[in-house]
Amino acid sequence: MDASGESFVTAFSGGLHAPLQGREPKGRKAGGQFPLYIPPLFPYFTPLRRTPLSIRAANAGLGLTIKRGLRELHTYHKPLDLVRERSPERPVALVRPDALAVAARWFRDNFRGDVFYAVKANPSPWVVRGLAAEGIRSFDVASIPEIELVAEHAPGSRMAFMHPVKSRKAISAAYFDHGVRTFALDTHEELAKIMDSTANAKDLNLIVRLGVEAEGAAYSLSGKFGATAHEAPALLLAARQATQDLMGVSFHVGSQCMRPTAYQAAMAQASRALVRAGVFADVVDVGGGFPSIYPGMAPPEMADYLAAIDRGFSEMMVHETTELWCEPGRALVAEASSLVVKVELRKGDSLYLNDGSYGGLFDAAHAKWPFPVKLLRAEADAQAPMKPFKFYGPTCDSIDVMPGPFMLPDDIGEGDFIEIGMLGAYGVAMATRFNGFGDMDGAIVEDAPMGSMFGLARRSIPAPKSDFGNVVKLSRAKGKKRRRR
Ligand SMILES: Cc1ncc(COP(=O)(O)O)c(C=O)c1O
Repeated sequence: MDASGESFVTAFSGGLHAPLQGREPKGRKAGGQFPLYIPPLFPYFTPLRRTPLSIRAANAGLGLTIKRGLRELHTYHKPLDLVRERSPERPVALVRPDALAVAARWFRDNFRGDVFYAVKANPSPWVVRGLAAEGIRSFDVASIPEIELVAEHAPGSRMAFMHPVKSRKAISAAYFDHGVRTFALDTHEELAKIMDSTANAKDLNLIVRLGVEAEGAAYSLSGKFGATAHEAPALLLAARQATQDLMGVSFHVGSQCMRPTAYQAAMAQASRALVRAGVFADVVDVGGGFPSIYPGMAPPEMADYLAAIDRGFSEMMVHETTELWCEPGRALVAEASSLVVKVELRKGDSLYLNDGSYGGLFDAAHAKWPFPVKLLRAEADAQAPMKPFKFYGPTCDSIDVMPGPFMLPDDIGEGDFIEIGMLGAYGVAMATRFNGFGDMDGAIVEDAPMGSMFGLARRSIPAPKSDFGNVVKLSRAKGKKRRRR
């Protein structure tokens, strides 16, 4: 029990039908309408409280993020202290605010331009607040709930609506209700939507997202969005003519990009498109993709990425006031969170856990990443040999499986707790409530993450060995690309 006599705070208020929390409703400016109310779906099911759409939106679609503020979370020195004191029944998202602050300061001090945090990577309020406190006051948002989240937790920040396909309603709410001026697009149709929905505003910053050929990322992001080399010149020209404010280019080299030169190559492609269009860009936005450390994936130094971007920028046809932007997600938050899970059952080499692919372990299941693990047991038998395990999640779905392999002591069994590291990016952000699972607690810990690009821990985590002694290969076969969100 902590000094306040309080158990560690439940981060996600319980149950499938837990009332959603959010900001006080704000009357919409346009037409002075009142917030809409959602009628009950079935007359025999009466919701506890009718919730205005604007409040629901502040929570909707943000996954099971940690909604409590840091001050409401209990602090433990180490994850094992939490297990000793609480034996937590539900999964616990561990937060490491210091790791977030160190990453934020590194980008703030070293990137020669504006750093927009890609909120999708981890939309927990403590992350948004923590970044703002360290001077990251620009945010890449993809939806109205993300905009509302930033407005609530980092008021006054600059937001860029970087989703290339938005609803008209979202564009006009972003512009008129939230003061968003920066919008991405990759088609003439989206440009027309943006102009219509903002009543042909003259103060827009229009960023044309280009599709780029980029090598070396674990997740390609070129399949869904981005104007082709053929389409780009006309679109750049149209965007240039549509605004009296900034016109820019953006791209995404793919998430977890392992090659710094991918940025330089993408910038050369962007420069060619600008030259062909005969326009200058006011903004060059190099997107996200900055990597973190996972078993078997030891990226080059982060400084090498910024050096490649500097080289790429100096070779571009830009004018002297052109701004450089980036949108890191993963690199800012990956180290700042991990997950404590409980073993509910052992069946041979398989461990059945209380969290899985529908919870914080999406990438462990779908990308088959063998995240680093630690057994959290007070009297761990130092003699027990390490052995590869596979994990199953708590739902009844047979795709709720994480093949790993995860190296853990051979004597692990029911009731043991495991910390799964490096889950701050696309971890809790991806969680659902499928099958009635998904409730999670939160706690702060003071120890170092399991790996670090910023000097807080080791720079590489070895790839686990499979049962047969061969090293697990994480890189994809040449020519094959994984697609991601
Ligand atoms: C437009 C955009 N910017 C930034 C990011 C963040 O990418 P990363 O987490 O790889 O840095 C993403 C991720 O999907 C994205 O779609």
